[in-house]
Amino acid sequence: MAITFQAPKGTRDFYPSDMAVRRYIEDIWRKVSIRHGFQEVDGPTFELLDLYKIKSGDEIVSQLFSFTDRGERKLALRPEFTPTLARMVAEKAAGLPRPIKWFSIPRCYRAEQPQKGRLREFIQWNVDFIGEASDRADRQCLAVCVDALLECGLTASDIRIGWNHRELLTKALTSTFVAPDRVSNAYYVLDRLQKYDLAARNALYQEQQCTPQEREHFESFARAFGVPGGNPVGIGDFAGNWPADVLKSIQVFELRLADTGLAELCRFDLSVVRGLAYYTGFVFEVMDAQGQNRAIAGGGRYDQLIEMFGGPAMPAVGFGMGDVVLEILLRERHKLPEKLMPVADVFVINALEDSAVADQLITQLRRSQWNAAHSVIIRPGLNVQTSYRGTRNIGKLLQEASGSGARIALILAPEEAGRGMLKLKNLADRSEMEIALSAVINRVHEILTK
Ligand code: HAM
Repeated sequence: MAITFQAPKGTRDFYPSDMAVRRYIEDIWRKVSIRHGFQEVDGPTFELLDLYKIKSGDEIVSQLFSFTDRGERKLALRPEFTPTLARMVAEKAAGLPRPIKWFSIPRCYRAEQPQKGRLREFIQWNVDFIGEASDRADRQCLAVCVDALLECGLTASDIRIGWNHRELLTKALTSTFVAPDRVSNAYYVLDRLQKYDLAARNALYQEQQCTPQEREHFESFARAFGVPGGNPVGIGDFAGNWPADVLKSIQVFELRLADTGLAELCRFDLSVVRGLAYYTGFVFEVMDAQGQNRAIAGGGRYDQLIEMFGGPAMPAVGFGMGDVVLEILLRERHKLPEKLMPVADVFVINALEDSAVADQLITQLRRSQWNAAHSVIIRPGLNVQTSYRGTRNIGKLLQEASGSGARIALILAPEEAGRGMLKLKNLADRSEMEIALSAVINRVHEILTK
């Protein structure tokens, strides 16, 4: 009796049509990264478990897929790329040309409860700018993220980007109600306020040993934050107590966003805190404008991580964007191109008894390069398909040719082949011509280039 298996919970099978969508998204990520001067890197799918314990934060550590190898080493599948990147930079920092501008498109693994937009295995585009402390680098990262979203066809009515600044927020918190040694607890609480109901918030306050004064302030934040994806939370009520230099810095950063063409999409948003523990300054999150989906992307500045991994002190900023929510959003907003599957250029129909001539022709077409004297276009090898059905019925084979999406069918039949000729059928305008076998490659390229 056959045993049936299903893919593990929270993973996906990529059939050809799924793969076409994935390639479409990855191609945009790659193209936009390169356009902004970033170079592609990758690392191992698993790392020593301790790499993630240093500074990713409890939430990610609790979601690790970890295991022990035969040498008793504790390892974990990568839940994100940033620790790998920090390790790679730390290892070769002296020899790397600065600034370091890297991107990667790794598969990542998190043992989350699978739900809409969150899986256990996903693909995450990472863009990181290392060795540059200025807020120009922050905006450069934001610009790469925005350009990819625009390139996917999304607009300001589809997405919203909230930004915040941990250093400024720390200053504002410590000058109002948070003791300096309680800042990390405050971040832990702030990051959860929007996602928790009152009962869960009370449990959180207790767990974090919040003072009555802290509870009162956090509750006023919770009221302002509302539900995830609600309106961005400006400084509003809180600003009265905040240091003037903090307010000024926020204003200046907002003005500069306009210089990079980002002002329309980005808003200062107090509710954007980010769960990862390594962020030190600017942070941002990309949300669906209607607030229906989980975050599409998130990132920020992590100026201490590389030093923590044994490298020199090196400022860094970057972000990660997952494919899962992005694909959901593109489908919901009808932004995915209809035709993503690769289609054939040419379909070879063999009605001869033997397949030798057909196979030689197919090979030549696939390997052919074309650079006509009058044209600057160099066409690489063609996508050539043929039938394996074993029939020589040209009518049936023509139907198969049309289904392949090819613009041209080449028909090898005994009558023409005996004279060194074949029939070329233009499947777009249904016209037909007889052509010498020796001239067919040039003719096919000419038609396809038109
Ligand atoms: P993150 O916010 O944990 O940041 O993840 C970034 C994005 O990855 C999320 O906005 C989401 O699109 C996607 N993502 C995360 N978890 C899942 C999941 N379980 N299923 C599907 N998609 C998911 C980081 O990972 C940082 N390391 C990003 C970064 C790079 N910061 C600086 N450089």
